[in-house]
Amino acid sequence: MTTDNRELILRSLNAALHSKKLYPPGHPSVAAPARKACQLLSNHLDDRGEVGLLLVEESLVFDEIPVDNAREQYGDLTAHLEKKRIEAIRFRQGVTEEELSGLLDILTMERTFEPDELEEELLRRRITRITIRSEPVEKRNMLEVYNDAVGVVKNVMNDVRMGRIPKSGEVTDIVDEMTDLVFADTNAMIGLAMIKSYDEYLYNHSVNVSILGIALGRFMKLGKHEIHIIGVAALLHDVGKTGVSEEIIKKPGGLSSEEWEKVKQHPVLGSQIVERMDGMEKDVCRMIYEHHVRYDHSGYPKIERSIHPLGMIISVADAYDALTTLRVYQNPHQPVDAVKILKDLAGRHFDPAVVDAFERMIGFYPVGTMIRLDTNEVGVVIKVNHEACDMPTVKILYDSDGNQLEEPYSVDLAAEGEKTRSIIGVADPLTRNMDMGAFFQQEAG
Ligand SMILES: [Fe+2]
Ligand SMILES: [Fe+2]
Repeated sequence: MTTDNRELILRSLNAALHSKKLYPPGHPSVAAPARKACQLLSNHLDDRGEVGLLLVEESLVFDEIPVDNAREQYGDLTAHLEKKRIEAIRFRQGVTEEELSGLLDILTMERTFEPDELEEELLRRRITRITIRSEPVEKRNMLEVYNDAVGVVKNVMNDVRMGRIPKSGEVTDIVDEMTDLVFADTNAMIGLAMIKSYDEYLYNHSVNVSILGIALGRFMKLGKHEIHIIGVAALLHDVGKTGVSEEIIKKPGGLSSEEWEKVKQHPVLGSQIVERMDGMEKDVCRMIYEHHVRYDHSGYPKIERSIHPLGMIISVADAYDALTTLRVYQNPHQPVDAVKILKDLAGRHFDPAVVDAFERMIGFYPVGTMIRLDTNEVGVVIKVNHEACDMPTVKILYDSDGNQLEEPYSVDLAAEGEKTRSIIGVADPLTRNMDMGAFFQQEAG
């Protein structure tokens, strides 16, 4: 193959990717370069059988030859490969136009893929003559993103306290990052949502509700934009509490009616704050305004209209995180018990369809549940099994004699050979002085 041909293929691929940003699918500006790339590639594959496009230490290698100035010449192509953490794409003889345009679709999708998910996506689209190798998303990133998200909420609330209008960019960016990670590994992210802070409750609570809301939106197969506004509204849902004094928020026992009236203003205050933030959508403000209205409208503030359907997701996530957190006036509920409480309140406080979806997503033994096995071993659920709800993956922490293991190990209770071990009940981590948040922090670290 001549250098010219290689250049033409890369140029066509790059042009097709570039046009995808600007034009709808099927537009001639996308289709024409994709068709051209396919023709040139097919001709070449007739000679070679297979061609690889590799990203090696940030430089592009095509058909075994390093590409000069790839970043300048083929900016879109390199950027998409990097964003998707793709190390290699291999094309085999007989590749069709449909397969190539399927690849371009995958490259331009917002979501990230784990390596095995990429394989599934290719299979789902019946792409057999293109293979993709990608790097897995590092778990370490998850904790960094979680901590960054806590920092973003802190900044927003500090801005409000100082009388400044918070910036929207940080918020939308971190929600996008959290969404990518929820898609990449929902279990690990739900584990991180077990991180609670007693002193800085509000920041962690906001992040946890956002993670749970995004995860539920994903589970309910909502669109990208819907998931995004859920994430943003959830992250900011309690921003109005900056207007309520710390004393009242942390007060043990009952509040006076005057204090309670103050607390009840936080959804209205919050939506007013977010309304002033640049580019915030009306739906986001509305969901914040309505997050305590409740399904039967028995909450606050009193409104006539029906509640925004996506707001119901935030209310369920909000309640679950609050229930599983230690507060001045409440010991944390076990995840299993929190789900039971949500179910009891379905139809009154919460939309039954949303509670039902939440229950199916979080599983019978949710991630973060401490369980006892019939072998008397004790462990923590780290991965839910949606097909067999009583057989999650568990990290064993204590052996049959109650000794803490120096090297805890994971067991998939559904795996062949493990079916002899089964869960007999839930154990309380408090009795073992165990901080579930710290556990998942370590898991992600
Ligand atoms: Fe609230
Ligand atoms: Fe809340």
